[in-house]
Amino acid sequence: MHVVIVGSGIAGLTAAIRASARHDVTLVTKGALTDGATAYAQGGVAVALGADDSASLHQADTHVAAVGSADVRAVEVLCTDGPARVRDLLSLGVPFDRTSDPSSLDRYGDDLARGREAAHGRWRVVHADGDATGAAIERTLVDALHRRHVTILERTCLTDLVVRDGAVVGVEVLDLLGEPRRLDADAVVLASGGAGHLYRETTNPLVATGDGQAAAWRAGAVLADLEFVQFHPTRLAVPGGGLVSEAVRGEGAVLRDARGRRFMTGIHPDAELAPRDVVARGIAAAVRDQDGEPVLLDATGLDPAFLVARFPGLTRATRAAGFDWTREAVPVAPAAHYSMGGIATDAEGRTSVPGLLAIGEVACTGVHGANRLASNSLLEGLVFAVRAADALDAPRPGRLRLRGDADLHVTTVSSAADAIRASSPTDFVHVRQVVQSVMTDRVGLLRDAAGLAVARRALDGLTVADPIGVRDHEDRALLDLARITALAAETRTESRGAHARTDHPETDPTAPASYAWVAQHAAVP
Ligand code: SIN
Repeated sequence: MHVVIVGSGIAGLTAAIRASARHDVTLVTKGALTDGATAYAQGGVAVALGADDSASLHQADTHVAAVGSADVRAVEVLCTDGPARVRDLLSLGVPFDRTSDPSSLDRYGDDLARGREAAHGRWRVVHADGDATGAAIERTLVDALHRRHVTILERTCLTDLVVRDGAVVGVEVLDLLGEPRRLDADAVVLASGGAGHLYRETTNPLVATGDGQAAAWRAGAVLADLEFVQFHPTRLAVPGGGLVSEAVRGEGAVLRDARGRRFMTGIHPDAELAPRDVVARGIAAAVRDQDGEPVLLDATGLDPAFLVARFPGLTRATRAAGFDWTREAVPVAPAAHYSMGGIATDAEGRTSVPGLLAIGEVACTGVHGANRLASNSLLEGLVFAVRAADALDAPRPGRLRLRGDADLHVTTVSSAADAIRASSPTDFVHVRQVVQSVMTDRVGLLRDAAGLAVARRALDGLTVADPIGVRDHEDRALLDLARITALAAETRTESRGAHARTDHPETDPTAPASYAWVAQHAAVP
């Protein structure tokens, strides 16, 4: 069969490599092959390899971080398939860092070094080139891809899915010359990543504009868990500053307020290694209390030679920003990092629309619940890519078990494209800036009913008239996704993990773990 895979991060590349053994594969990616979020991943891959570890301990930590709202079956799959998938990466040649400590050999007798990150009860994060794990994995997978028979279309932007008789039968793209083009397919696998650019500050690369989620929604696919957006606690708080890995705190760095006090110790027993949502909100509160001044990440307690050797990329990045982090603390602030929600899938990546699969960040298997455990994202990309590739020509079950199944809502919002048919074109030049401001200020780290209502009205007033170029199509995707995200955040009248409502600060144990959404124009599956 002919399979079109959209996206070239860890999920897309893994699926393309696996599927190419049995299928005719075309891989489409918006930028260059290595432009996605995978290459930016620093911490590593969480996997239960240690002699002191097990898939069930990894599952337990994943559920705690997810505030008990992750999907039990999906988490089990993630944690039990994980070790085999990381060993696949080793066979392909990913240069994972090694330890010289003979007492920490893993269950396979291997000497992989293992780091620690927030909310992990074990040292289980394998890493490469210190803090450049994602780049090392991406490089290795791209090399492996080039040894397979896969047609690669770079600088080719997904604009829509082609639906015939209720099934996806291809994609519409803008090719590298900006010309619209249709690619027919027996199956389309979306692996196009997240939507960090819904927000003003993000750790995501420029390509992360939610194109896959929005196209799937317009094609009638069910989306789930959109209100759960993870803010990473520590982006370097300088213009253009990038991610500062949680692994730095895992090695012992601490957070301090402007007066030098460790504020996280008063907030959670695990202090700086509390789950990400807790640390991000702790930082936001400290920043508010000190009139907007950023908090500081202090790694000066670590041995300077160790710090530089363990985190060479971050040493360069902090130096470029004018800091010597072996001697001084550096300013950090939370930033949009990861979408726990996305296209609802089963554990084989199948979506509610026949012919359409989704894997990695664009998908929502339910594996992350309300808050993703650190370094489970690369593992998710690997595990579900292989399962989806293997399921491509398997018969589709009569009844799919999708995330959010039980609480399916019909979105009353229309697509930005529908809106232009109904209204006269307005000034769309600033759509992205308005979306980012509204999402950051009203649908961000802290939310309430009044702010969410303002957000919905502001977003409803925007249109993207006649999208022509890549930027227009990205803006349409961001606007479509922003509207559904705001609606989802309004609907969940409680606080749970990354979704924090100041007007409903408690978790409601009777609230559903997951809300799912399907467009009004789509047939309800
Ligand atoms: C980090 O290194 O802190 C990011 C890893 C992740 O998002 O899981």
